[in-house]
Amino acid sequence: MDALTALQTRTAAPRLTTPAPNPEQLEQILKAGLRAPDHGMLRPWRFLLIEGDARLKLAQLFVDTTQPDTEERKQKLLTTPLRAPLIIVAVATIKEGKVRASEQVCSAAAAIQNMSVACHALGYGSIWLTGGVAYDPRVKVALGLKETDEIVGYLYVGTATVQDRPVPQHNLQDFVQQWNG
Ligand SMILES: Cc1cc2nc3c(=O)[nH]c(=O)nc-3n(C[C@H](O)[C@H](O)[C@H](O)COP(=O)(O)O)c2cc1C
Repeated sequence: MDALTALQTRTAAPRLTTPAPNPEQLEQILKAGLRAPDHGMLRPWRFLLIEGDARLKLAQLFVDTTQPDTEERKQKLLTTPLRAPLIIVAVATIKEGKVRASEQVCSAAAAIQNMSVACHALGYGSIWLTGGVAYDPRVKVALGLKETDEIVGYLYVGTATVQDRPVPQHNLQDFVQQWNG
């Protein structure tokens, strides 16, 4: 798939199953992530790969750390990590200095988008999710992250079980205008 087609046709895949990308494909996907723009060459990102039974541990970690107050919430936390064979947790590793933290988060977000498009180009589906478990400091600590790190997204990756939904057709004029001063 050529680059423009991949960029213009990626859609989120909410239902994912095996197979996940193989190790060579995963390397390609991660390399695409590492080509995100990066002010100051800080490389302000880390990616945690969570597969197989580690997803069950992640589910239990979500429950143990956030202590959901209803059975429904607990069940949601226990099942969410199982919705794809591979989870890439994208973390902005914020470094103090002249580059704003928000710009470093932008870099990590761009890395997620690059990886999502790379998945699509290789024939895999993905969906970028956050929710409370991206922002709960107790989850960060349990994952071994620093207080200053930010979980920018959980990229769920696998093979889409339903046909890609149609690519929404947007009217460019709704979003773009010429500015002439
Ligand atoms: C920062 C960020 C966080 C997101 N978190 C969630 C989420 O927690 N739950 C969800 O259903 N979609 C979430 N989404 C949206 C999906 O990833 C996806 O973009 C959405 O379903 C629309 O599909 P599309 O990407 O094919 O247009 C998030 C997107 C972004 C950029």
